[in-house]
Amino acid sequence: IGTVVYENSTTASKAVAQEIADLIRVKQAQKQPCILGLATGSSPKSLYAELVRLHKEEGLSFKNVVSFNLDEYYPMEPDSVNSYVRFMKEHLFNHVDILPENYHVPDGTLSKAEIANYCDQYENKIEALGGLDLQILGIGGNGHIGFNESGSLQNSKTRLVALDHITRVAASGDFSGLENTPRTAITLGVKKIMEAKRVILLAWGERKSNIIKASTESEVTSSVPASFLQEHDNATFVLDKEAASKLT
Ligand code: F6R
Repeated sequence: IGTVVYENSTTASKAVAQEIADLIRVKQAQKQPCILGLATGSSPKSLYAELVRLHKEEGLSFKNVVSFNLDEYYPMEPDSVNSYVRFMKEHLFNHVDILPENYHVPDGTLSKAEIANYCDQYENKIEALGGLDLQILGIGGNGHIGFNESGSLQNSKTRLVALDHITRVAASGDFSGLENTPRTAITLGVKKIMEAKRVILLAWGERKSNIIKASTESEVTSSVPASFLQEHDNATFVLDKEAASKLT
């Protein structure tokens, strides 16, 4: 596992955006689609802002990009304020030339009975495209990646999960109270994340410093799912100084 530390999240995000832009352009030159795994939350906002800038000011096209978001709350309507569909449109999709049929966010509107089959199809689509070229991750204070909470197995599949209390508390501000915060979500499993050819995990701020240390310097354990990335051969933790401050 590599860790790269930047002065702040802005410079870090610009560097990651440049790597993504380079990958998109290489794939364009090869007339290949570029398959991206995307995250929501506060961590990738500055990355998406820079990708939008690269599109508007430097002509970066997303026409060959096919994307798969990590997760979505369940249940969740796509046009609801807290939906990850809405988040992605607001921060990226509405501002670049990605084709609407080429982005995927797990569907929070399914009936319970439909979910397992839907999750299998989600993975099959990724597989049919040759797998994820690059997966962007954030990290929860408990070490979750996507919504693979503590206890998620390294070979876990895309599935409906119960959100940890700590995850719901972190989200409760957006939902104006814990009682309105979803209890479940659909998440890409750890297995597909681990199969991505390249993984970049973003973490900013002092509040992430303990979990960054645990994920990178302690043993690999399902109680800290981000620690599985120690076994990925092309994963990098991109950090600001504060998130890296507890590393030895
Ligand atoms: C969101 C996701 C989550 C977040 C994590 C960190 O799609 O997969 O794992 O990345 O909860 O959230 P922030 O970036 O808001 O600290």
